[in-house]
Amino acid sequence: MENKCEEDLFCGINRAKSLDPNDMSDLEKKHTPVIEINGPIKEGETLQVSVEVGKYMDHPNQHGHFIQWIELYSGDTFLGRADLASERTQPKALFSIKLDHLHPLRALAQCNMHGTWEMTKKL
Ligand SMILES: [Fe+2]
Repeated sequence: MENKCEEDLFCGINRAKSLDPNDMSDLEKKHTPVIEINGPIKEGETLQVSVEVGKYMDHPNQHGHFIQWIELYSGDTFLGRADLASERTQPKALFSIKLDHLHPLRALAQCNMHGTWEMTKKL
């Protein structure tokens, strides 16, 4: 099927072509939500998970251009969401989660000028 979204950042979900920041474009570095896990990964145990946008390259944080929200999922299961203000709030969210199943974690982040971006991290 033809991908009609190719040139439109607001059509569908954007994903970096590589997980390696050395192989990412500046646009990808600025928008990819980076998932970091603190603590042992075990079913039924509480995990501390941070999701940060702009970790590889700072994303603008101005009223006219900023990260509006960050969401975290376990596979397709919603875990949490942070709605963010421009300028006064950095695009980073911390979640404490307890999982019954170790599906990959998925983070989504929305830039008001460059659409929705996703990163997946296997547990
Ligand atoms: Fe942006």
